[in-house]
Amino acid sequence: MLRQLPDDFSALVLGASGGIGHAVLKALLDSRKPKRIIAVSRHAPGLEDSRLECLALDITTQEGQDTLAAHLKDAPLHLIFNAIGMLHDGNAGIAPEKRFEDLDFDALARLFHVNAATPVMLFKTLKGSLLGKHPIIFASLSARVGSIEDNGLGGWYAYRASKAAHNMFLKTAAIELKRLNRQAIVLCLHPGTTDTDLSQPFQARVPEGKLFTASFVAEHLLDVMDRRTPDDSGSFWDWAGEPIVW
Ligand SMILES: NC(=O)c1ccc[n+]([C@@H]2O[C@H](COP(=O)([O-])OP(=O)(O)OC[C@H]3O[C@@H](n4cnc5c(N)ncnc54)[C@H](OP(=O)(O)O)[C@@H]3O)[C@@H](O)[C@H]2O)c1
Repeated sequence: MLRQLPDDFSALVLGASGGIGHAVLKALLDSRKPKRIIAVSRHAPGLEDSRLECLALDITTQEGQDTLAAHLKDAPLHLIFNAIGMLHDGNAGIAPEKRFEDLDFDALARLFHVNAATPVMLFKTLKGSLLGKHPIIFASLSARVGSIEDNGLGGWYAYRASKAAHNMFLKTAAIELKRLNRQAIVLCLHPGTTDTDLSQPFQARVPEGKLFTASFVAEHLLDVMDRRTPDDSGSFWDWAGEPIVW
C-alpha cells in the first residue's frame, strides 16, 4: 500500500464518518503499514484500533481547524485524505440547481465553503506537519463535474463551480508546497459515482454497473495514489487511474 510512504507512516483522514472517508479509513486500518491514523469527523466513525485517534470536530470551522492543529503539534504527516464534501442538504433546502431560478446566495456560499475553502485551509492549518523532507500524499476528493472542459450538461452550478474552485486551490497549493517539501504529491481525485448519502437522491439515473460501493472506490483510489510521484503533484485523476482535464 502507498509504496512512496514509509512503513509506520502517519495518516489523517478528514470526513471519516462519510461513505468514502469511512471506507478509506477501514482500508488503512486493514493494512499494517500505517502506525498512526487520525480520523476527523463530526460524528464518530465507530471503529476501534490502537493506532486510531478519533477527533470529533467540524473541520469546516476555524475552531475545528485550530483544534486539529493543537492535536497534531506539527508532527509529520505522510497521508492526508480529505473526503469532505456536500451536494445537497435537505434540512437547509439545498439541492443541485437545474435552472437560473434555483440559484441562491446562501447555497452557493455554503457549497464553496465546504467543498473549496475547507480543503485549502488545511494547507495553512497543517503547514508544520507538511514541511520537511518526508514523502507526502495530500489527496482531496473532487468530482468530474468540476471539470470545466468536461461540462457538457450544465446544471448543478454550486457543486460544479465549488469543485472547480477546489481544483484551482489544490493546484495552487501544490505549487507552494513543492517549495516546502519536494516529495509532496497533491492530488484531486474523482471517486466515480459511489453509493453514499451524497449520491443517494440521484442513484436512479445511474446506469447499471456504474454505481460503486465505497470499499471498491477506496481500494481503487489507494491504487491511483500508489502510482503517483512528486512530478504528478497538482493533477486530477479518476478512480480508474485516468487523468481528468481541468
Ligand atoms: N458519492 C459520489 O458519487 C461522489 C461522486 C463524486 C465526488 N464525490 C465526492 O466525494 C466526497 C465524499 O463524498 P461521499 O460520497 O463519501 O459523501 P458522504 O457520505 O455524504 O460524506 C461526506 C462527508 O463530508 C462531510 N461533510 C459534509 N458536509 C459537511 C459540513 N457542512 N461540515 C462538515 N463536514 C461535512 C460529512 O461529514 P458528516 O459525516 O459529519 O456529515 C462526511 O464525512 C465528497 O467531496 C464528494 O463531493 C462523491
